[in-house]
Amino acid sequence: MNSQVKILAIESSCDDTSAAILVDGKILSNEVAGQEVHERYGGVVPELASRAHQQHIVPVVQAALNQAGIGVEDLSAIAYTQGPGLMGSLLVGGSFAKGLSIAQKIPLIGVHHMDAHVMAHFIDDPKPEFPFLCLVVSGGHTQLVRMDSPASMEIIGATRDDAAGEAFDKSAKLLGLPYPGGPLIDRYAKDGNPEKFQFSTSRMPGFDFSFSGLKTSILYFVQEQQSKNPQFVEENRNDLCASIQETIVSYLLKNLEAAALTLGIQHIGIAGGVSANSQLRERLQSLADTKRWKAYIPRFEYCTDNAAMIAISAYYKFKNGEFGKLDEKPFAR
Ligand code: KG4
Ligand code: ZN
Repeated sequence: MNSQVKILAIESSCDDTSAAILVDGKILSNEVAGQEVHERYGGVVPELASRAHQQHIVPVVQAALNQAGIGVEDLSAIAYTQGPGLMGSLLVGGSFAKGLSIAQKIPLIGVHHMDAHVMAHFIDDPKPEFPFLCLVVSGGHTQLVRMDSPASMEIIGATRDDAAGEAFDKSAKLLGLPYPGGPLIDRYAKDGNPEKFQFSTSRMPGFDFSFSGLKTSILYFVQEQQSKNPQFVEENRNDLCASIQETIVSYLLKNLEAAALTLGIQHIGIAGGVSANSQLRERLQSLADTKRWKAYIPRFEYCTDNAAMIAISAYYKFKNGEFGKLDEKPFAR
C-alpha cells in the first residue's frame, strides 16, 4: 500500500490559474498561467477572468502532474481555493476539483485564500515559530494576522477601505501605468528618490489601515502639478514611484511594528502579492535586525497567487482529517 500523501491543489480566485502537486509536505510542482487580457482595462475584468480560467485549467493541471511525475490515479486528495475571490473564477477551480473528487473517489479539501497566503510560510524551512505575526497584503486584502498554530489564525487589524495592492495599482493608474501597477512601481522606484514627494496616510484605531486618503492625496497632487506642467508625470516618474512606495511600505511596517511590540511577538512576516515588493522585503528584514526579531519572507513565487500555498494548507487539513463536502459553496469573505 502507498501511504504517501499526494495532493493536487488548484487556485483560481482571481486572474491566475495555478495547479500544484505536494507529496508528504514537499511541493513537487507549482504551475501558474497568468492572464494578460486585463492589462489594457486597468484592472481584472471578472467575465474575462472566468473565461480564461476555463481555457487554462486543464493544461495547467496536466503540466503540474507531468512536472511532478504523478498521475491522477495516484492522488490522495484534491484541494482548491474555496474563496474569497471572484465568483466566476472560483467556480471554475471549485467545479473542476469537485468533478475530480467524484471521478477519482478522493477527498475534497476547500482552502481559504487568505489563510493560504499565510501558510505559504510553511512550504520552506525554516518555518515560523509561534506566536507568529504576519502582514498579509494582496490586491484584495490587507490584514495583520496573529497565528498560534496552523489551525489558529486571528485577524487583529485590517484595512477599512482599499487593500495595499489596490493602493499600488490605483496609484500606478494615476501615473498612466498599466495593470497590475505594483510590480512597475517597484521597478521604477529603484531609480527614484523616495524623499522627493510627501503623501499623507491616515492613522486608524487599533491596528487597522486606510488607503483611500493616500489615493486622494496622490490624485490631487498629480492633477495640480500636471496643470502647471503637462509633462510632470513623465519627467518625475521614478521619483513619484519611489515616494509612493516609500509611503505605503512605511505605513504598513509602522503598524506591524506597533502590533508586534504591543503583543510581545518576535516572529514577524509578510505574505500576499505585495510581499513581492523589494522595498517591503528589505525593510522588514532591517526592522527585524534592529529589534533582534526573526523575519520570515516567502520565496518570490509563493507571494503572488499560487497553488503551492493551497497545497500546503490542504496538507495540514488532511493530517487533521478536515475534509470538504461536494455541496459546499464559496466563502464570500
Ligand atoms: O496576492 P495577489 O497575487 O492576488 C490577490 O489575492 O489579490 O496580489 C496581487 C497584488 C496586486 O495588487 C499587485 O500589484 C501586487 O500584488 N504586487 C505588488 C508587487 N508584485 C505584486 N505590489 C508592489 N510591488 C510588487 N513587486
Ligand atoms: Zn492572493
